[in-house]
This record gives sequence, C-alpha cells and structure tokens, in this order.
Amino acid sequence: MTKKRIGILTGGGDSPGLNAAIRGATLTAIRKYDMEVYGFIDGFNAFFEPEGEGFVRLDETAVQDIHAFGGTILGTASRGNPFEMILRDEVGRPLRNADGTVQTRDRSGEAAARIRNMGLDAVLCIGGDGTLALAHDMYLRHGVPVIGIPKTIDFDLAATEATFGFKTAVQVASDALDRLRTTADSHDRVLILEVMGRYAGWIALHAGLAGGAHAILLPEIPYDPRAVWRRVTTRFRRSRKFSLVVISEGAKPIDGGYAVAETREHPAANVVLGGAGARLRQELEDLYRQEENSVIEAGGYPPEAPEVRVVVLGHIQRGGTPLAEDRIVATACGGFAVDLAALGQFGTMSAWIGHGPVGVPLADALKPHFVDANTTSLVRTARELGICLGDEVDED
Ligand code: F6P
Repeated sequence: MTKKRIGILTGGGDSPGLNAAIRGATLTAIRKYDMEVYGFIDGFNAFFEPEGEGFVRLDETAVQDIHAFGGTILGTASRGNPFEMILRDEVGRPLRNADGTVQTRDRSGEAAARIRNMGLDAVLCIGGDGTLALAHDMYLRHGVPVIGIPKTIDFDLAATEATFGFKTAVQVASDALDRLRTTADSHDRVLILEVMGRYAGWIALHAGLAGGAHAILLPEIPYDPRAVWRRVTTRFRRSRKFSLVVISEGAKPIDGGYAVAETREHPAANVVLGGAGARLRQELEDLYRQEENSVIEAGGYPPEAPEVRVVVLGHIQRGGTPLAEDRIVATACGGFAVDLAALGQFGTMSAWIGHGPVGVPLADALKPHFVDANTTSLVRTARELGICLGDEVDED
C-alpha cells in the first residue's frame, strides 16, 4: 500500500513555536501514521518553483531538536498570495497598470494542480489570519485538502484559546518594561514602549498589565492624547515622577488613523504599521507647549514637564527561544493537525481549547478576535487598577 503524503508550510510573519509545530506534525505523521512528509519552502511561494524544487523531505533527523529554536526551518513569506501573484518584467520589476498599481494574476489553480501532482493527501498550513484565509480559499475554490494550525503573536484568531508565539511576545514586552522602568525611574522620564499586534491590542494589554504600565493604548480603544498627558503629568508633579506607557502599533488617536510606516507593494499585503509611539510623543510634547504658552501668556512660570522617550520593540517580539507554553501548544496542535488529516477533516484548524487541541472549522477561526472595551475582562482589570486606557481624561 502506498504511504499517505502530507505537506507542511509556514506562512506570514515568523512566530515563536513554528519549529515546534513542524516537529510535532512530522513526528506524529511518521511515528503514528507512517506517512511521508514534505516541507514547503517560503510558504505558498513554493508552489511556483520549477518542477522538483520548492520543497524538502522531512524525516526524523530533519526535525531533531528544532522545537527550541525561533523562526522556521521552512522559511516563510508575508507576500506570497497565489490568488494575486505580482507580474514581473524580465529583470524582476513589477509590471504596473496605468494608475501605478501593480499587475497581478490569479495562479491559485496552478498551486492546486501542483499539490495534486505531488500526490499530497493533506497540506498543513501553519499561519495567522492571512495565511489561513488563503488556505481556506484554496480549500473552498480548489478543494485543496488543507488543515490550519494557529500561529501568531497577535492572538487575533477566533475559535482558539491560544495562538502560539503570543505568550513569548508578551513575555518579551513585559521584560522590556521591567528594564525600561529602571531608566524611567532614574531619569524621571516617560518611556513609551511601542509593541506589535497589528489591529489587535492583546500584546499591549497583557504586557502592560504584567509590566505595571501606567497607560496602555490599544487599537480597539481610540485614545485622547490629553488623557495620557494628564496621567503622566499628574504622576510627574505629585508623587512618582516617571511613567511607563505601552502603545500598540495599531493604536489610533480619537481623531486620527493608523500610524503607517510603509505601504507595501503587494495589493493583498497589509501596510507596515509603525510610528504610533513617536506620534504619541509628539502629541504629548504639543500639549506641553500649549500649556507652557498659556501659562506664560498669563504671566506665570511654566511648570516642569517630564521628558518623553520612545522605544520600538519591533521584531524582537518574534525572535529567539519560544516559551515552554508556546512550544507545548505548537507541538500538540501540530500533531493533532495530522490526526485531522488522517480523519479527512479538511477545511479545519487544529485549535487549542481548554487543555488540548481540537478541530474547528477554519471559517470560524477567521472571525475577528479583538479586545472588546466592554467585555474583555482584562480591560476591566486595567481600569480597576487605575491604568489609563486613553479614553477618560482625568479631572483635577
Ligand atoms: O502578524 C505578526 C506581526 O508581527 C504584526 O504584529 C506586525 O504588524 C506584522 O507582523 C509585521 O510584519 P512584517 O515583519 O512583515 O513587517
């Protein structure tokens, strides 16, 4: 009897635990089911490599000891969308339409044919919302036998109580706050820590609570800079002089939009968020100037104000050794994805619910999972502790 074959790919941003998931799936496939396992290089881009390229055979040796390493041994890509592949000229430059937008072509059918030709019985797609949405489309439109595995530091997938990488990212951000606290305290400064998470505030909320932040600004709760200013100057002028502020990269002031660092070329790829911390610093400094001018105009001496500095944590949140908890979720969800494949339960995701993995429809996982200002209990916890969430301006 011919052995069953599965493929594994990792897509989107790297996330601590990817290698543990690859190992969990590979070992389960080989030891429990005697399957053949292939790893695809650089996510969906692998399917457009010349015949015979773009994949590697995964055996027990290939995945030995990789569970503790960050990154992904398979490589990943944030921009490979088979439904909208960028067309390029002979030297690799994107072809453009008259209005400057890049030209794309739907090559998803070719990808599906490649999967069929390789005789794959299942494709395990380890990804966040972008990769899993593509996997879901490949399943719906081409019948590709996909199973999702939820990774993302952003924790913005529904139908799962864990996405591996998130816990490690929170720990890194919380450690950063512990380190920033000593400098902030020694210099009487306001230190703003900008964290990732895209349009979800989970990393900021969890790290802010763990790290004792005085203000936490989330994409889901538009902030009034005056609220933050009041909080940090009240601390500065009354008691403890320093403040720690955590801001999500996707946080927005009440009258503004996302801080965008870069607009990506790929039509289906997201913009690169960045600069929310720097913008907040400017807003706080503008408020101080206004206060200073009005005091001077009234003939008084302007009050002292804290110095504000910004630290952008960036990809440090995604790198390095995964926490044990992320490795456990990754290993178990990776292994269980193979069980789902063996059962023929395609179009599903190996989610983590309670204390272990379960199968859920991929479509459910793709529903939004954001902080809710009214129902997320940690928001209430933060308010009860007196942490400023940017939406209430303190009275004197
Ligand atoms: O989705 C994970 C994530 O790290 C987000 O938090 C962040 O906005 C984005 O990826 C950054 O992606 P890239 O490294 O491709 O710019």
